[in-house]
Amino acid sequence: MSGAPESMDHRPLGDLLCPEPDERPDLWPWSARRREDGALEIGGAALPDLARDFATPAFILDRADLRGRAGVWATAMAEEFWDGYGMAGADAFYAGKAFLSSDVVRTVTGEGMGVDTASLGELTMALRAGAEPSRIGLHGNNKLNSEIELALTAGDGAGIGRIFIDSLAEVAQIERIASALGTTARVMVRVKTGVHAGGNEYVSTGHEDQKFGVGAFDGQLDEVIAAVEASPHLELRGLHSHIGSQIQGTAAFEEAAGIICGLAARISTGIGRPLPEIDLGGGVGVAYTGDDPVPTSPVEAARAIAAAVRGACEELGMPIPRVSVEPGRSTIAPAMVSLYRVGAVKDATLGEDAAEALHGRRRYIAVDGGMSDNIRPALYGARYTATLANRVSDAPPVRSRIVGKHCESGDVIVWDVDLPADTAAGDLLVVPVTGAYGYSMASNYNMLTKPGVLAVENGEAEWIMRPQSIEDLLALDPGCR
Ligand code: LLP
Repeated sequence: MSGAPESMDHRPLGDLLCPEPDERPDLWPWSARRREDGALEIGGAALPDLARDFATPAFILDRADLRGRAGVWATAMAEEFWDGYGMAGADAFYAGKAFLSSDVVRTVTGEGMGVDTASLGELTMALRAGAEPSRIGLHGNNKLNSEIELALTAGDGAGIGRIFIDSLAEVAQIERIASALGTTARVMVRVKTGVHAGGNEYVSTGHEDQKFGVGAFDGQLDEVIAAVEASPHLELRGLHSHIGSQIQGTAAFEEAAGIICGLAARISTGIGRPLPEIDLGGGVGVAYTGDDPVPTSPVEAARAIAAAVRGACEELGMPIPRVSVEPGRSTIAPAMVSLYRVGAVKDATLGEDAAEALHGRRRYIAVDGGMSDNIRPALYGARYTATLANRVSDAPPVRSRIVGKHCESGDVIVWDVDLPADTAAGDLLVVPVTGAYGYSMASNYNMLTKPGVLAVENGEAEWIMRPQSIEDLLALDPGCR
């Protein structure tokens, strides 16, 4: 499944209005509010002022909100897995693929999260930003030697906390590099649990027929464990499972937790000692539009996972391992919005089906960004919503599609939203919940420059990722100097 979602054309006008911050706080940064003059405010700064003083398009991060969400994840895990409850402790690692910058690393680690990385770039960024190496993990289904070398030498040679082994071949690769460096690699093995969950086929990762992890029930896991155990430079820390992304509810996580505990018990028996840790990955979903349910909170997720782990371990008669999770989207998505300036506005005449409900037309509202700063609607058919950021309007709603300025018709930011009929060039539109997989999946398609990321807090704003300039792009081309 990808591309355009099923059409929602037939829903009556007014059904696809963007919820205001006081109507659906879960869709907005914690500080978002509508001012009396009609402007939206985030972090104590009015969005029209930010557009004037900085730039559009821009990602706007409510840093206090991110700090809060990171703190809630870290605290929820620590509380639910507290040893006073007979548990063995827990960790929350922020999945940097959702969005990484040095400011974000410092913000989330300051609240007690570790950092989960999946490439040389992410790992270097986490280290350069000062994340404690022992609180960093490295993922990847096809790791480069350079990634493994950095993982093993970071922190003055102590290495990062954990490398997630994704295949049998990788065992030999890490053993070879660790041996050459005269060090020991702490590893966990990523397994496919068979649990199929997540919003889109492209982001669902626990089932058998996909590229990540090793099979749990076809002999692959046992082969990998035997190879790790036979490697003098590898220390087996435990098992990992990531079942998918944008998952609603807790049932799939509970199921995966039970399966991983069962596998850990089987392996412990085989190797003659308990595995100290399990990691249950990321995947907790968020709401993107008023149609989406209020999402599972970190506290609910941690509590459900804790109960599932405890129940499984009791049944299996095994000691409770330390448990970690890797939430990306749920940590940062709602803490950020995208701010665009409206340009060209035009109406398309609709076919008979939709004509009646929508008074015959769909409005195309073009903004100054597009699929280069948010590929998710085009890639996954992801739905977003949007509202005016500079004013409120009593004009009747018009079914609108917010599009970018790229050279293709799939360049859509919001498939369907009801916006006031007087929305016009110069207005500002804000799209909430763009903190995860927006900037991090941005491109330079059509040689558009990537927007910057503006952090706002206490009315003060600063770029934590400056906007690219045309010169940044041209600098890569030796013929353009
Ligand atoms: N851990 C591992 C091993 C992962 O592969 C992922 C996401 C996460 C943690 C974080 O998952 P989260 O908590 O953010 O759901 N680009 C897609 C999402 C891809 C997710 C890939 N792995 C999207 O925009 O929906």
